[in-house]
Amino acid sequence: MTDSVGASPLAVRALTEAPHVMTGQEMLMGNAYRPWPARITSIRELTAHEKLFEFRLTDERVREAFVHEPGQFVELSLFGVGEVPISITSSPTKQGFIELCVRRTGTVTEQLHRMQCGDIVGLRGPFGRGFPVEQMRGNDILVVAGGLGIAPVRSLINYIHDNRSDFGKVTIVYGSRTPADIMFRDQFEMWRHRKDFDLILTVDEPDDTWDGEVGVVTEPMKKLDINPANTFGAVCGPPVMYRFVVEVMREKNISYDHIYMSFERHMKCGMGKCGHCQIGHQYCCIDGPVFNYWEAKNIQGSM
Ligand SMILES: Cc1cc2nc3c(=O)[nH]c(=O)nc-3n(C[C@H](O)[C@H](O)[C@H](O)COP(=O)(O)OP(=O)(O)OC[C@H]3O[C@@H](n4cnc5c(N)ncnc54)[C@H](O)[C@@H]3O)c2cc1C
Ligand code: FES
Repeated sequence: MTDSVGASPLAVRALTEAPHVMTGQEMLMGNAYRPWPARITSIRELTAHEKLFEFRLTDERVREAFVHEPGQFVELSLFGVGEVPISITSSPTKQGFIELCVRRTGTVTEQLHRMQCGDIVGLRGPFGRGFPVEQMRGNDILVVAGGLGIAPVRSLINYIHDNRSDFGKVTIVYGSRTPADIMFRDQFEMWRHRKDFDLILTVDEPDDTWDGEVGVVTEPMKKLDINPANTFGAVCGPPVMYRFVVEVMREKNISYDHIYMSFERHMKCGMGKCGHCQIGHQYCCIDGPVFNYWEAKNIQGSM
């Protein structure tokens, strides 16, 4: 149908109405395969193998619309090199930038470690299911991390830090191979001096300077005084760690329903399309990476 001068109503509307300006959320969600440009705004060496990168999405609307949950991840792309899933280690309470803690392991991460402040990467996301912070609110939290597993749970710890009165007692047990492998030392120093955070650091191979715990994370865990009725566990670390940590949590009578753990699997799309991360009937990228005990129990080789 046309009006008296022959233009279709749709065409007339398009000419007379102001063009629709997409919101940041529409832009982010419009094409989830599209990496959005982000600038590296800070780089900090954490250990010989890991660096902490701060990124700012260059489009202001996209930057404002980007909201994540502790435990979620992004797909980070280096143009012409490749794309990798990386956990967001900063807290959602800090808006405008995200931090990723990246270990140098292969093609993409090696290349990222060579990049400088000001360089541009691509980011897609946030993806996946994070820690259930709403359910955790009002409860005591026991965080157990090993090695690089500190990256996703740091987002949770910083979130709790910024909403401290919403949570009960917070205990962090973090295990590293050697004292030189401990990441976020400055933050651990801060948490160590706060009365409302109990921090236990343990290493497998101490050096002469080490005065903390020695051995696997489960040893100091056994000595903890836990109120099982209102404690949630958040666990992330090397695959071998999970079963033993869960065993100690159960010895402490923490309910299986309150035990959450973050897993890593090989991923491509990050959003349940390609099947690369499938474990049994679950997709790690959308059903996880954070699973509760019952879900994790059904994931072959995880527990
Ligand atoms: C949900 C999720 C969150 C992650 N968070 C972080 C993080 O916060 N920081 C970080 O440094 N890394 C993280 N990783 C792992 C990271 O994605 C891999 O290290 C990265 O993909 C390696 O890519 P590359 O091109 O550098 O190495 P490649 O050249 O692709 O591979 C180097 C080696 O790493 C192995 N590898 C590759 N991808 C994975 C993987 N997903 N899991 C285990 N081994 C892998 C390869 O088999 C190979 O042996 C995460 C992975 C997932 C799935
Ligand atoms: S990474 Fe493609 S389905 Fe999970």
